[in-house]
Amino acid sequence: MSQWHEVARLRDLEARKKTAVTVGGTTIALFWIKGRVYALADTCVHEQRQLSKGAVLFGKVVCPGHQWKFDPATGEADGQDRCQPVFPVQVSEDGIVSVSLEREGALR
Ligand code: FES
Repeated sequence: MSQWHEVARLRDLEARKKTAVTVGGTTIALFWIKGRVYALADTCVHEQRQLSKGAVLFGKVVCPGHQWKFDPATGEADGQDRCQPVFPVQVSEDGIVSVSLEREGALR
């Protein structure tokens, strides 16, 4: 069973569109994209730049390092064989965003 960690308020994330939070020593990039919250490992699987400093383009998270484009739901990168870890997210009725460190995607 997942252990959930409260990490942000939805209204803050809606305003900022992205942020980085740390849970249990793991830094997670949160994104607000097309009405949904996504959580990905902040450290890029390519060369360790921070995805939370990247951009969102056409629904994809673009790493500021070398512009790999990640699907925020699966962590898959366009045209690459590596996958960014992603984490489960839930939003409570009162707008609290929680994540679980139980990874949905793993390094390949
Ligand atoms: S460090 Fe992310 S694409 Fe290179």
